[in-house]
Amino acid sequence: MTCTKCSRLAAFIEENKKKYPSFFNAPVPSFGDNDAQLLIVGLAPGLKGANQTGRPFTKDYAGDLLYPTLIKFGWATGQYKADPNDGLQLKKVMITNAVRCVPPQNKVTPEEIRNCNLLLQEQIKALPHLKIIMALGTVAHSAILMALGYRKSAYKFAHGSVYTLPNGLTLIDSYHCSRYNTNTGVLTQKMFENIFQKIKEHTH
Ligand code: URA
Repeated sequence: MTCTKCSRLAAFIEENKKKYPSFFNAPVPSFGDNDAQLLIVGLAPGLKGANQTGRPFTKDYAGDLLYPTLIKFGWATGQYKADPNDGLQLKKVMITNAVRCVPPQNKVTPEEIRNCNLLLQEQIKALPHLKIIMALGTVAHSAILMALGYRKSAYKFAHGSVYTLPNGLTLIDSYHCSRYNTNTGVLTQKMFENIFQKIKEHTH
């Protein structure tokens, strides 16, 4: 798939195709189970992570926390080896991003979030058994509300917040499991696992 809606991101991908010809260098598709009860929404692919491997959070630092946590809580089987061919299988969970193309400096613009929002909307609609959407960070949180047509001001982002949305879905917020957040102690493994504990209570 190619997409040229965001000229800045399309140009960055072209630049990276020259610099890193072996990389995926394209919009990174969702990864997971179409029977998902849980949808996890991240920010955007990392340059040498998901943009290299073509699988969300794969080879990104954030994946080193996310995938083992999914295995621990029974949302995935196999082993995570930071490689799209590691055989890891997600069970009843789908992972996607608010923006599917790698952005320069890991920063997306409001316009890029809007441009990519239709794909998020379609991803949500394509999951008939969806119960919970987990927002990893504020960008994901806002993108989810935009995709569902709800006002941001009615649902403030806060780590651990759980919202029952008018359409019956549950929105749960977590700080993003980025290297920055874990290195600075904004998010600890325990805090992240506590969110998955809450998710468990809402799905079983
Ligand atoms: N961080 C994200 O938010 N998403 C990815 O796919 C990789 C890193």
